[in-house]
Amino acid sequence: MSFLKEFLNQVEEGYLLIDRQGLVLFCNDFLIRRGLIKENYENRPYYECIGNLSVVSCLAETFSNGKAKVCNFYHGHRDYSLYTFVGSDMVVVRCTDITELKRYERSKREFVANVSHELKTPIAVLKSILETLYEEEDREEKKTFLERAIRRVEDMRNLVEDLLIITKLESGEERLKRETFSLRSLVEDVFDFLSEEAQMRDVSLENLVEEGFMLSGDKDKLFLLLKNLVDNGIKYNRKGGKVRVGSFMQEGHAVIEVEDTGIGIPKEHIPFIFDRFYRVDPSRSKELGGTGLGLSIAKHIALSHGGRVDVESSEGRGSTFRVYLPIL
Ligand SMILES: Nc1ncnc2c1ncn2[C@@H]1O[C@H](COP(=O)(O)OP(=O)(O)OP(=O)(O)O)[C@@H](O)[C@H]1O
Ligand SMILES: [Mg+2]
Repeated sequence: MSFLKEFLNQVEEGYLLIDRQGLVLFCNDFLIRRGLIKENYENRPYYECIGNLSVVSCLAETFSNGKAKVCNFYHGHRDYSLYTFVGSDMVVVRCTDITELKRYERSKREFVANVSHELKTPIAVLKSILETLYEEEDREEKKTFLERAIRRVEDMRNLVEDLLIITKLESGEERLKRETFSLRSLVEDVFDFLSEEAQMRDVSLENLVEEGFMLSGDKDKLFLLLKNLVDNGIKYNRKGGKVRVGSFMQEGHAVIEVEDTGIGIPKEHIPFIFDRFYRVDPSRSKELGGTGLGLSIAKHIALSHGGRVDVESSEGRGSTFRVYLPIL
């Protein structure tokens, strides 16, 4: 044991052993040096010697429900992650300094946000120049080229906008509005927005949401979430196919269901489709346009409302995405 203690005192992360009665058995030097625990800790209750309220409440939760827990906290100008492991006769706590990791993540997010923001203006200028040239051009051949260029510029604009949305959502800086509104009319708005695309692909849209079904949340964000799901339902469909949106209540959640009769998603791809830039069939998706950020945005919007999105799919038959939003 003394060898183990010596080893634990050398490492650059914190270790704490507490018996099931809540008395501290051991704590390594790291935690004392960082001012997280008092020096005379031995055989004293953890809540008397730990100098951070977030840590105490995290441990209290572990002791009350007997389950492992992970929590992040801030102490002495540094960020930490705390992991608790529950054994039969003791609780082991591991504490790592994540300040540098957080700083790196923040700078990566800021970099993406800054680049995207800086690209917005030149893209808008380029688009309006191309549109003017297109209007003024008489020769069909040149018009075709300009049309193609405008489409590419639109792709760029969508990518930049999606990147800005996703960095804001991930940073948690985005404040959510709370408003109560009719889901049926929100779905109508989404359908109006996508009607041209649905017509072009010969896919019909059906709103099955009942008139009085109300939602509470950030209407603009939930519009974006549904727009992404319905857009996928249209894009990954076949001629004459359908996209239906319905809703119901389930265990304290409002559930929105987006069902399509499209190509479906192979089982092995399902765990990854909510990841940024992931696409099942990159060549087909490239043809269809888009950035591969749609489902990631949808997932983050649901999470920021305290909810989630899941999917059931059958290859060649279609997919059903469900959004679960807690009723507050
Ligand atoms: N309803 C669906 N049916 C079949 N495949 C789908 C469906 N929705 C998503 N996918 C698959 O999951 C991938 C990721 O979807 P996501 O919406 O994130 O990106 P995207 O549609 O390719 O681009 P974007 O939404 O940014 O325009 C898609 O490329 C597609 O392969
Ligand atoms: Mg999409």
